[in-house]
Amino acid sequence: MSAKSIAVVNQKGGVGKTTTAVNVAAGLALAGRPTLLIDLDPQGNATTGLGVQKSGLYPTIYHVLLGAESLEKAVRGSELLDLRLVPSDIDLVRERLNPRLAVEGIVLTMFDGRTSLALQIRDEVHRYFPGEIFETVIPRNIRLTEAPSHGKPVMLHDLRSSGAIAYLDLTREVIRHE
Ligand SMILES: Nc1ncnc2c1ncn2[C@@H]1O[C@H](COP(=O)(O)OP(=O)(O)O)[C@@H](O)[C@H]1O
Ligand SMILES: [Mg+2]
Repeated sequence: MSAKSIAVVNQKGGVGKTTTAVNVAAGLALAGRPTLLIDLDPQGNATTGLGVQKSGLYPTIYHVLLGAESLEKAVRGSELLDLRLVPSDIDLVRERLNPRLAVEGIVLTMFDGRTSLALQIRDEVHRYFPGEIFETVIPRNIRLTEAPSHGKPVMLHDLRSSGAIAYLDLTREVIRHE
């Protein structure tokens, strides 16, 4: 099985990118896939979200990208089987384009089906990107908001929450794409 890199992107902040990266990584690790989560955001929320203290961290992905340290040294383990983490520092490489880049899929996050706006947006996205949208929709769920302050992916915070179930479903879809 060859390695695959997945980036979670959106130019907008606060839309659930970090939450998706952390919880899909956790889902893959729980599925027994060796998983490396690379935190390239200077805010380091994926790092703290998995219970790693940011202050005084050395080396991080910043030092690796500068060529000062090896990637191996920057990797931290996590309590989840096979989930590893490279913490951030500074934001770099954002511009490095990969010619083999392909869209894995569009995921709707923080979805609140009780509002007609959310339903309208969902329909618009389906109209503009037919066949490119993950079936799984991530609902707005308080457990997803809480989990980072416990330094845990949502599955270890509350496995039965709608957020955990949704991210496990999304992980299953990502695996199916292989
Ligand atoms: N589906 C969701 N339900 C409830 N809260 C969420 C959900 N997704 C993200 N959050 C919370 O919203 C905030 C922004 O999410 P985050 O993943 O950090 O966004 P981004 O990385 O795109 O800036 C965080 O506090 C996060 O815990
Ligand atoms: Mg983020």
